[in-house]
Amino acid sequence: MAATCLGDTPTTTQIPHLRKQNGVVQLIVQGQPMLILGGELFNSSSSSLTYMAPIWKRMTDLHLNTLLVPVSWEEVEPKEGSFDFSVVDGLISDARKNHLHMVFLWLASWKNGMTSYDPLWVKEDYKRFPRAERKDGTPIQVLSTLVEENWDADAHAFAALMRHLKAFDSHDQTVVMIQVENEVGVLGDSRDRSPIANQAFAGQAPADLMQRLIVADQGLTPEIRRRWVAAGQRTAGTWEQVFGSGPATEEIFMAWNYAHYVDHVAAAGKAEYPIPMYVNAWLNEGNAKPGDYPSGCPESHVMDIWQAGAPHIDMLCPDLYASNFAERCQLYTRQANPLFIPEMQGSEVGAQNAFVAFGSYNAIGTSPFGIDRSQPDAPIGKTYQVMSGIAPFILDHPGQSVGFVLDAEHPRETATLGGYTLDITLDSLFGRSSTEGCGLIVATGDGEFVGAGSGFRVAFRPTTPGPLYAGIGTVDEMILVDGKWTQGRRLNGDETDQGWGWRFSGSQNSVLKCKVYRYD
Ligand code: DGJ
Repeated sequence: MAATCLGDTPTTTQIPHLRKQNGVVQLIVQGQPMLILGGELFNSSSSSLTYMAPIWKRMTDLHLNTLLVPVSWEEVEPKEGSFDFSVVDGLISDARKNHLHMVFLWLASWKNGMTSYDPLWVKEDYKRFPRAERKDGTPIQVLSTLVEENWDADAHAFAALMRHLKAFDSHDQTVVMIQVENEVGVLGDSRDRSPIANQAFAGQAPADLMQRLIVADQGLTPEIRRRWVAAGQRTAGTWEQVFGSGPATEEIFMAWNYAHYVDHVAAAGKAEYPIPMYVNAWLNEGNAKPGDYPSGCPESHVMDIWQAGAPHIDMLCPDLYASNFAERCQLYTRQANPLFIPEMQGSEVGAQNAFVAFGSYNAIGTSPFGIDRSQPDAPIGKTYQVMSGIAPFILDHPGQSVGFVLDAEHPRETATLGGYTLDITLDSLFGRSSTEGCGLIVATGDGEFVGAGSGFRVAFRPTTPGPLYAGIGTVDEMILVDGKWTQGRRLNGDETDQGWGWRFSGSQNSVLKCKVYRYD
């Protein structure tokens, strides 16, 4: 990367931004689309440059191109109005030396529902910065969403950070996105019960939110529309009149208030340096109720509320540890929400699921949590290695790919891509079968496909008029030599099962190109 050039500030369309290409939203950095092959550090790692020193190389050895890095309010504004960006600058400089991009996580008013990253001068002044309350009246270490003094203080610090980033980084674009707060929401109750919150809850649902309901109507998520319709599809009223009574409405109320607060913070930051900004969600599991998981968090069932309340937030993102990975991806790609997964498992499961996120849900990026503890041979590194080879094809052919995970219970997947039906099955040869497989395929042109992964094979059937059958024409391997993807072997014979299948054999990932032909 080039050296920082203070004062040389690119325009808004040149700084990192999101762009829609063939209906797919891509992250554009230095004018080029990129996929984030990311990982998130443990919460405290980035508070010390010395602690971080040995970590950088381990990240590039894992084939990451981007590191998700906490930056906290307590660190940058230790005294009110007095800012210290020395650690921020050190992190950026070290990332540059290691050719890594970064996403900064702004840990400020809330982290995992609690308020622990605010500076001591905020914590101690709880009269000036009021807190939320639970049913039993216990004071909790959670800033109230309803108090202007709170969001102004957070926004002031965040704006200072973004102003600094603009000066320090808009030329190099090491920092490509910002997460605003972390897993917001009330834990232990479905809503804030402080007097100011009780008053707001008894008042009218905000006009901006009502407008969203009225204008979107049939286009609302079924979860929100169902509640609104069941309560009489009113165009005005109190929260309970509009959505009915109960914890689900209290969750909607909190979602609106968190969104409204976070939007103030994001807007102040974007006024300084408008790079993409997102929020992340601690996902509800099983029969959990609002308050078991943070109530008001950007869950997929309150997306409409968040989108209406936080127009300066570009993406609502799942921290996707749940086992129903594809289903959650689908839920988070509704309402034109681009998919970015800031946290997920880094085990074999995460390494497999990354193919699904990129291949089938056009993810901008994925990022296992606690990446700094990963060993050099961690599965995610193996996925990211081949993803680095196939990423340019995904980016050049947006929406023309499929990703999958196969096992004994789910040994087959079919997809229609590039004028063919692809029959993707667990690989087998001479009676021996793989027990698991995963990968992704991109349609790159007329009968041309590129794929990455292991343990599967693909057969093709034409879907367009012409000769009825499709055969494997040629298969070429791509290999990484001195950091560059290069043509490897021409594969044939057993490696294509004598022309019966495009094989990604064994458990080692490969990147292969295939040319299909048709015959009668
Ligand atoms: C989700 C949070 O967002 C992370 O900061 C971290 O606390 C992990 N949970 C721990 O699993």
